[in-house]
Amino acid sequence: MPAIESKQHPKIWSPITMTWKRAIIVGATSGIGEEIVRQLSAQGTQCAALGRREDRLDQLAREIPNLVVRTHDVLQTSTVPDLFAELCRELGGLDLIIYNAGLLTEPAEWEDDERMMEINLVGAIPWLRLAADRFEGVGAGTIVGIGSVAGDRARAGRPGYSASKAGLHAYLESLRNRLSRRGVVVSTIKPGPVDTEMTRHLSMNKMPVQTAVQILLKKARKPGEHYLSPVHAAVFTILRAIPSPIFRRLPLE
Ligand SMILES: NC(=O)c1ccc[n+]([C@@H]2O[C@H](COP(=O)([O-])OP(=O)(O)OC[C@H]3O[C@@H](n4cnc5c(N)ncnc54)[C@H](OP(=O)(O)O)[C@@H]3O)[C@@H](O)[C@H]2O)c1
Repeated sequence: MPAIESKQHPKIWSPITMTWKRAIIVGATSGIGEEIVRQLSAQGTQCAALGRREDRLDQLAREIPNLVVRTHDVLQTSTVPDLFAELCRELGGLDLIIYNAGLLTEPAEWEDDERMMEINLVGAIPWLRLAADRFEGVGAGTIVGIGSVAGDRARAGRPGYSASKAGLHAYLESLRNRLSRRGVVVSTIKPGPVDTEMTRHLSMNKMPVQTAVQILLKKARKPGEHYLSPVHAAVFTILRAIPSPIFRRLPLE
């Protein structure tokens, strides 16, 4: 019998003690997503790893026994219902979904902003919504979205990225408000800079990806919005409270 998907003993289920048996990770071919697959698999979770780069997926599948892999472009939203159902069947159920796919690019043209909105936000919607409906039906499950501190305040230099992450935070909050009394955990992770391909060109202090994912997977068990470091929690709590007329005068790019 599946460990989590049971309506019979909802009170016994606890997000702190549970083991995720089966997980889908959307955007798992590099960086945070790839490390999530590695750490979850090491903990005994059977994962389905998705992304566009087939060579990366094949490499992961060679390293991790029983890993399910699928090439998927999150812009192809119409393919998600069939793929979601197929993966749930192949895994024998579902306990955890993590939407991690993301793009951070220089917003040279409006199309760059549009693309970030599509990958970081629009692409998440079918995955999160289908998981929410399924988990609500069984009264258990965990939904995780990888947002960003950039979604907390919209800085001048990154309108598309900030808006996409703020939108993702709001979408997840709505799911959390709907599902928190139904045994479903909805968790929003808001990393600061993490050392991955995405941030390779940026010179700033970055958290090692292994550390970031260790913290992320612990925090993901609790409903709510989570920073990966107490410093970010403190700084962004203050930044969020600054009134807009003052915020726009701050020397932030
Ligand atoms: N690194 C940071 O400092 C940082 C900070 C805050 C938030 N984040 C967020 O963390 C997440 C992971 O970022 P990362 O730093 O690990 O970057 P990354 O190494 O560039 O990973 C991005 C992942 O997203 C996938 N992806 C991008 N476009 C996709 C598409 N159209 N369809 C399917 N998958 C797609 C990529 O897979 P394919 O290219 O193979 O499709 C890859 O697996 C992102 O949501 C990012 O916004 C990162």
